[in-house]
Amino acid sequence: MIIAPKIRGFICTTAHPDGCAANVREQIEYARSHGTLTKPHRRVLVIGASTGYGLASRIVTAFAGGAKTIGVFFEKPGVATKPGSAGWYNSVAFEEMAHAEGLYAKSFNGDAFSKELKADVLAAIREDLGQIDCIVYSLASPRRTDPETGETYKSVLKPIGQSYAQKNLNTDSGEVSAVSIEPASEEEVAQTIKVMGGEDWELWIEALAAGNLLAEGFSTVAYSYIGPDLTYPIYTKGTIGRAKEHLEQSAARMNDRFGARTAYVSVNKALVTQASSAIPVVPLYISILYKVMKEKGLHEGCIEQAQRLFADHLASGKEIMLDDHGRIRIDDWEMRNDVQQAVMALWEGVTTDNLSACSDYSGYKSEFLRLFGFGLDGVDYEAETKPVRELPSASVNR
Ligand code: NAI
Repeated sequence: MIIAPKIRGFICTTAHPDGCAANVREQIEYARSHGTLTKPHRRVLVIGASTGYGLASRIVTAFAGGAKTIGVFFEKPGVATKPGSAGWYNSVAFEEMAHAEGLYAKSFNGDAFSKELKADVLAAIREDLGQIDCIVYSLASPRRTDPETGETYKSVLKPIGQSYAQKNLNTDSGEVSAVSIEPASEEEVAQTIKVMGGEDWELWIEALAAGNLLAEGFSTVAYSYIGPDLTYPIYTKGTIGRAKEHLEQSAARMNDRFGARTAYVSVNKALVTQASSAIPVVPLYISILYKVMKEKGLHEGCIEQAQRLFADHLASGKEIMLDDHGRIRIDDWEMRNDVQQAVMALWEGVTTDNLSACSDYSGYKSEFLRLFGFGLDGVDYEAETKPVRELPSASVNR
């Protein structure tokens, strides 16, 4: 099959297996070239391990730290007539490259929110690894079924209290226009917290604790975002921000239960992932941010952020620096005054006509295509390729 990108709004419905493998290989090379971690975790569980921040965290802990990794994700394998999802191909490539280095890597494809999948993962930990030293919680999901009640909750990306009007970029057409988003209902706020808050993170940690699968001195981290005033109404002060507040409360509860400095929330930089491209206004902000940060030599993607998170904080062997709210900040470069001032100056003037001059729109688009394995060097996109790729480990599909 010859696989080309098929873009529908803010998603690409195809993915290229060889391009995804090239993307994973580049990230592995980056992680390796930055030296080994000072105090690496030996056994790592990554929940949301197939794309974005979770994949980068798995790569850094494995290839810069030598960790045995278990990855959990919700992806579609390819079939003879249809390509699979990017996260599937990324995970196949990750496992192949990890196994080639003699690194243990096992993956579980299914619903991380379910009891069944948790039980499968716990059994593998018990059998293969004994215990876990670090749990990375990096899920981004539009819905969650509560394992106790069977009720399904949906997350929304909306402001709270009042409507939000801002500039927005149609990433497909390059058109900058005004968007107005109506506020969420109380019910929508509550549902978003159920999906993207910390409840499931705590359930994972409790399940591991109940199985005596948490190693002495284990740590766990989940990811959050703050960003500039401009996106506050749709992010930090919106429904997703409420869920992130809940995530911080979960971290505090786990620190009370398991000891201070066990559970961390890391505030990361805004970057192009499948999750962030779905948020109104944010892709235009990211396009401008990329231009400014590239010009200042400060640009980072997921792998650079994950490398800094583990090398400077979680696996540094030093006391981890936290902000006033107890969070790790690797959004420090994004939030620098000079960066934010430059972004805001461009934001004021950006229109459809000057989009290319005011932002890194072409960089945004190529980064977006790379998420699905398109536009990677050394890949022949005209050639036939096999859409069916098997995960090398005896991994479970649920
Ligand atoms: P992503 O869309 O690249 O990755 C999401 C992961 O979750 C994938 O591995 C996917 O398979 C998995 N997943 C989704 N639903 C699942 C389910 N039911 N069961 C098992 N796995 C499931 O997202 P991204 O952007 O890497 O986000 C990860 C975390 O980082 C999120 O909490 C997000 O809020 C946070 N974050 C993202 C930023 C960004 O700019 N992209 C910035 C700061 C934080």
